[in-house]
Amino acid sequence: MTTSTYVLGHDPYEIRRLTIQSQVFAGGTERILRAAGLGAGHSVLDIGTGAGDVAMMAAELTGVTGDVLGIDQSPAIVDVARERAGRTRHPHLRFQAASLDSFSASASFDLVVGRYVLVHQQDPAAFVRQAAKFVRPGGAILFIEPNVAELTRPDEALRETWSNPPVTLYDETAKQVVLGFSLAGVALSCGGRLVDVFQAAGLSEPSLLCEMPMAGPQSDFAELMTLTLRSLLPALEHHAAELAADIEIETLHTRLRNALLATRSQLRFADLVGAWTTVTG
Ligand SMILES: C[S@@+](CC[C@H](N)C(=O)[O-])C[C@H]1O[C@@H](n2cnc3c(N)ncnc32)[C@H](O)[C@@H]1O
Repeated sequence: MTTSTYVLGHDPYEIRRLTIQSQVFAGGTERILRAAGLGAGHSVLDIGTGAGDVAMMAAELTGVTGDVLGIDQSPAIVDVARERAGRTRHPHLRFQAASLDSFSASASFDLVVGRYVLVHQQDPAAFVRQAAKFVRPGGAILFIEPNVAELTRPDEALRETWSNPPVTLYDETAKQVVLGFSLAGVALSCGGRLVDVFQAAGLSEPSLLCEMPMAGPQSDFAELMTLTLRSLLPALEHHAAELAADIEIETLHTRLRNALLATRSQLRFADLVGAWTTVTG
């Protein structure tokens, strides 16, 4: 079973969050797509396309001689992707509302890709195994997933801060985000375990590339952290109501921005790990 509930929902705040997150991840994603071999004329399936950013980037890289299809289980987010892609005028880019389970295709693809989608699966290996069925023999499968290193470093002394010089409000917000995801059952350490996931899916050992987003205090990172926490509030309220009540989400972005500007801190967001391999058939 590879269908899942998307814990962050698809309200306007979440759609803005996905768009900002995509800008933050754009450079890293493009480098990973190129490293995985994506180029002109290729056919691509983007699973869990969300607001369509990976599909749109793939469409740029394949050019009009290629063919890109983005699918998502949420019809509402597929409408958003279609509307955004309409402005890019890519005739070879299409979107379809379908979960991976229900999807079928008449032809296989040169590249099957998913970004930030395995983290939401209860059984990532089953998801990868199912996705690999849509790769043509000799084509490639690629997943691009976050890795929050602190989850794999239980020793407090080894934990990194998210801001330098450290800003307590930014670091605490990041910790709440990590907590919210883990309470919602989302494994943010997924990007650090992709070798294992690919092997469990019956695939050969993947090539790996890690990108670490970093930016200054005037960047979108404060808004991205705030919007991520906002999308996670239902999960936090469900599991830790007192914690959620203390957050004061409506003023958080302003407070974060002021604190970061005062210290001129350098900021981190979750690392992005790409893992890809050839599917032999
Ligand atoms: C965090 S969003 C990522 C969106 C996009 N890939 C990006 O990186 O901007 C995850 C998306 O995967 C979709 N999704 C999750 N499980 C799915 C499944 N089994 N089949 C199709 N879409 C799925 C969700 O609806 C959601 O829109």
